[in-house]
Amino acid sequence: MIGAVLSSPVATARESSPLTTPSVPAPRASRLTQSAVRFTALPPLSLYIHIPWCMKKCPYCDFNSHAVRGARGDIPEREYVAALIADFEQTLPRVWGRRIHSVFFGGGTPSLLSGGAVDEILAAVRARMPLAPDAEITLEANPGTVEAQRFHDYRAAGVNRLSLGIQSFNPRHLKALGRIHDDTEARRAIEVARSHFDNFNLDLMYGLPDQTVDEALADIDAALAFAPPHLSAYHLTLEPNTYFHRYPPTLPDDDSTADMQQQIEAVLAGRGYDHYETSAFAKPGAQCRHNLNYWLFGDYIGIGAGAHGKISAPDRLLREARYRQPAQFMDKAAAGNAVQVADEIGAADVGFEFMMNALRLNGGFDARLFAERAGVPLTAVLKPLQAAEQRGFITRDPLRIAPTPLGRRFLNDLLQLFLPAAKV
Ligand SMILES: C[S@@+](CC[C@H](N)C(=O)[O-])C[C@H]1O[C@@H](n2cnc3c(N)ncnc32)[C@H](O)[C@@H]1O
Ligand code: SF4
Repeated sequence: MIGAVLSSPVATARESSPLTTPSVPAPRASRLTQSAVRFTALPPLSLYIHIPWCMKKCPYCDFNSHAVRGARGDIPEREYVAALIADFEQTLPRVWGRRIHSVFFGGGTPSLLSGGAVDEILAAVRARMPLAPDAEITLEANPGTVEAQRFHDYRAAGVNRLSLGIQSFNPRHLKALGRIHDDTEARRAIEVARSHFDNFNLDLMYGLPDQTVDEALADIDAALAFAPPHLSAYHLTLEPNTYFHRYPPTLPDDDSTADMQQQIEAVLAGRGYDHYETSAFAKPGAQCRHNLNYWLFGDYIGIGAGAHGKISAPDRLLREARYRQPAQFMDKAAAGNAVQVADEIGAADVGFEFMMNALRLNGGFDARLFAERAGVPLTAVLKPLQAAEQRGFITRDPLRIAPTPLGRRFLNDLLQLFLPAAKV
């Protein structure tokens, strides 16, 4: 997929869940001979929980999400919660003795779940594995599904961070995006969210159909009025297998979206937000710990329909993916194994996989972390590192490796250098 966008500026990918990383190659059939990675310590472990339903499918969205028929109560909540717990239990042998540092309910629309369901899931997790007392526990919510009592119940269940999919405050753009909420509901949802959660994120998108630079900046201003600790600003991308891909709307040209991006970054910097990842901005101390763990190549269990996991063991790096269709996932979990594809990331691929995550971080990464988390020495990627430096894509010294502004703009070209087959 990376090759397809070579020599074009990087599109901002959504990183709320490992499912959303568009460049991750699909897990292949098992290649158990490939392994040559070695770990002396295991990285922090996160838990991702996928909720695969939405009230309606948005025309731009390629997440594993399915429209519910009828009212919100129509999701098979009891059966799904039981399947999630079974899936979690089946994963335990691969993570014995470890502790969970963060939890993320992503979707789809996790705010379709009742407070009781969230409570049951978190209680089941705590009963089966240590959960760090200060663990960040995030839940994604769609403003069209917000009820004050429910938010209160999520908080009581242990959720301590809320992420709201606002997208825009402009009624015309919300309509063009096929959202189930208008701007009034978006504002109300934020008020409800911040009355229950100190720590919250607002998702916005820019480069929307027929959007002007001023309109994109007006959305940022409207979001800033709520003083969110964290903001995500995604460049709208036309993903294959979406309605927008089949029937493309008129989008602003590349110059305007580059302008939007630049001005959004400048406004947010002026308001004290640290632009720490391609699309993520945070007030000091409010970076998303769960997503940072993905970007720093930590481990994660992924439970639920279509969820991906990455789990290190002393001598191998496992990657797994669950069955995608909710009904099939529930059947398989009940039968004892919801994992559809299990694979190993071998020494040949691990450098690329690491860089694909860590080079999204504007501040880069501690050079020692590479050997610790990738399980191969940094010399394994010496040639591509040298090539990247020569092309002005990265800066590096013995302590830190970081993308330059040029490397960030052409992230796909930078990552291409680390592909196993790349000639550098
Ligand atoms: C799982 S959704 C968030 C929760 C909820 N499903 C919602 O949409 O309100 C994650 C975020 O990804 C972003 N997103 C989804 N599809 C996108 C696309 N094609 N291009 C850019 N951003 C996208 C949106 O900002 C969305 O809020
Ligand atoms: S509500 Fe969110 S996950 Fe659901 S279809 Fe829309 S963007 Fe995708």
